[in-house]
Amino acid sequence: MAILHRDVHLDGAPPSAPAFPSDHSSASALTRRSLLRGGAALAAATLSSLPPVARAAGRVPFGAAMQSDLMQSDPAYRQAFLDHCDLILPMNELKWDALRPSREEFSFWGADQIIDLARANGRRSRGHCFVWWNALPDWVEAIDTGLEAERVLVDHIEQVAGRYAGKLTSWDVANEVIANDPTGEPMRDTFWMRRLGIDHIAIAFRAAAAADPHARLVLNDYDLEFTGPEHDAKRAVMLDLVRRLQDHNLRVDAVGLQGHLYAEQRVDVDAVAAFGRELQRLGVGLLVTELDVIDWKIRGGPAEQDAAAGRVIGDLMDAVFAAQRPEAVITWGITDRYTWIPDAMPRPDGTPSRPLPLDARLRPKPWFERLQRRLRTAL
Ligand code: XIL
Repeated sequence: MAILHRDVHLDGAPPSAPAFPSDHSSASALTRRSLLRGGAALAAATLSSLPPVARAAGRVPFGAAMQSDLMQSDPAYRQAFLDHCDLILPMNELKWDALRPSREEFSFWGADQIIDLARANGRRSRGHCFVWWNALPDWVEAIDTGLEAERVLVDHIEQVAGRYAGKLTSWDVANEVIANDPTGEPMRDTFWMRRLGIDHIAIAFRAAAAADPHARLVLNDYDLEFTGPEHDAKRAVMLDLVRRLQDHNLRVDAVGLQGHLYAEQRVDVDAVAAFGRELQRLGVGLLVTELDVIDWKIRGGPAEQDAAAGRVIGDLMDAVFAAQRPEAVITWGITDRYTWIPDAMPRPDGTPSRPLPLDARLRPKPWFERLQRRLRTAL
């Protein structure tokens, strides 16, 4: 429990950055408690508006991120999502560089392909992501005043969240805002931090809540799962961020654990469970948003890679379920046929990485069957 008492402040933010703005938005005088009640009511409303397939099943939804070009070019890939997923979401199609070729233009085609496929088949979908340090078009990075940056960010969220309002169960409102190693400066140095300071997170949550009042609003990040001081610090900074947003009357519905796991790195089951319980105490849910396993350090063949992946995924599930029932468990792709892992972290012996639920021939791994069973039978 040590991390919960760790005193991590966000005052490493640039001196020009004030704390979250008190409340530009409304005359509401919400306390944290009334905010929590509002959150529960919203959760119920969201549940009752889910498609019948997902609602009828008592299981924790399993989902996977899809790529629209592959959906077009590979019918077996497309079918695999329909065979295995309750939730299908765009992997890259809702990022700024995909949506915004220029300040004037919006290009929704790719995202629409996936969201329409999900909805036509009674599946859920979700949005990824608004604030991120990566995938920003040059025209955004060229903005040189805070005022202009805020205008563009709010307009983007209004347009995009507004367009899909009622079609997405949740949005990653802020993705990877915490520093890679938060034992020093807690927040990542990004375009949004440089122009708006830490306020950009509150600005984004406020705009998202207004544009799609029924979508669950998520703070999403990586490296929240492991053992070690920088991971303790990341969990502590995340909790601090949630509390500060709540103190400014903003609704944070859930934290997303990305779950890019390393097969050789220990998941800190106790610390993640404590983290998830503290979130629950704050009225905040938990979900796994980008699960895959980096197996570059695992020697042997596919059986050893799959066994190692199964172990870390099992540990993560133990930790999450010890804290609270997750809102969803989502993998970052569905088959080893297409994955970002070998590009970013290839195996030194040149053999294929095996990060995802289905192998390259679309056969389910044993760990995927175990995971599906666990999600199906969860209380
Ligand atoms: C990755 C995609 O998988 C790649 O296809 C793309 O080229 C780059 O982005 N954390 C995130 C995801 O939040 O958006 C990233 O996705 C992987 C790391």
